[in-house]
Amino acid sequence: MDWGMKNRMARLISPQTGHAVFLALDHGYFQGPIRKLEDVGKTVQPLLPYADAVMVARGIMRNSLDAARTTPVILRVSGGMTLAGPDLTREGITTSVKEAVRLNATAVALSIHVGTENEHSTLTALSKLVDEAEEYGMPTLAVTSVGRELEKREARYLALCCRVAAELGARIVKSYYCEEFERVVRGCPVPVVIAGGPKMESDSDVLQLTYDAVSRGAVGVDMGRNIFQSESPVGMIRAIRAIVHEGATVKQAAEVLAAEKGKVLSKA
Ligand code: 5RP
Repeated sequence: MDWGMKNRMARLISPQTGHAVFLALDHGYFQGPIRKLEDVGKTVQPLLPYADAVMVARGIMRNSLDAARTTPVILRVSGGMTLAGPDLTREGITTSVKEAVRLNATAVALSIHVGTENEHSTLTALSKLVDEAEEYGMPTLAVTSVGRELEKREARYLALCCRVAAELGARIVKSYYCEEFERVVRGCPVPVVIAGGPKMESDSDVLQLTYDAVSRGAVGVDMGRNIFQSESPVGMIRAIRAIVHEGATVKQAAEVLAAEKGKVLSKA
């Protein structure tokens, strides 16, 4: 690996722990201003000290992230569809690697839609992006997108998506957690991070998901709604960090979360 690529990977995945907590804030690129991301700058500010990287699109990076902060940015460079449109899988490259370099992104991210009509176009877009990003020593994170199709959240399908993404050159792959998740990790030669999915009812389910994913080989999370829509976003990201970076149990992580909630209550 070239020095630049090594350095960027080390800024994303801690060389000390081998793990990572990415905070995903890119939902607006096709969902618009979802709850708690109406004002990304306000939501992200208290969370930045606990995120190893934030994932955003360029408009939010320019308008809502303070350029004086040094938290690495994983720049979402794909899009072109919305919740209002006919096909959520019709996604293409929306931001050039030159722009990513200008913005000093640490990595670029793009979604692939395996098993859909747009499988070919999103996979060849990934390959093209990897070709260009590698020229600058910039890692590409591939997001295996499955939308609401729950039957696709199975090890057999996710293992296929993650392996294909790695074969085409992704340096990190984002997957959903599933039963037999170790099969997904075993077949993927690059680090795997998990998405959290829609906000869960119970905090302990989020912590359990994180614990299970890391125990089964994920290097960490690239999580959004279950952090920033949490009743205690700081408590939740700190609890997740405890599991991912410090090997905490779910019970220990729940104590971290409870302590943070307690601080907020005592100030009120
Ligand atoms: C959409 C994405 C989102 O960033 C990601 O899935 C959001 O994370 P979460 O599901 O944890 O809110 O990549 O394709």
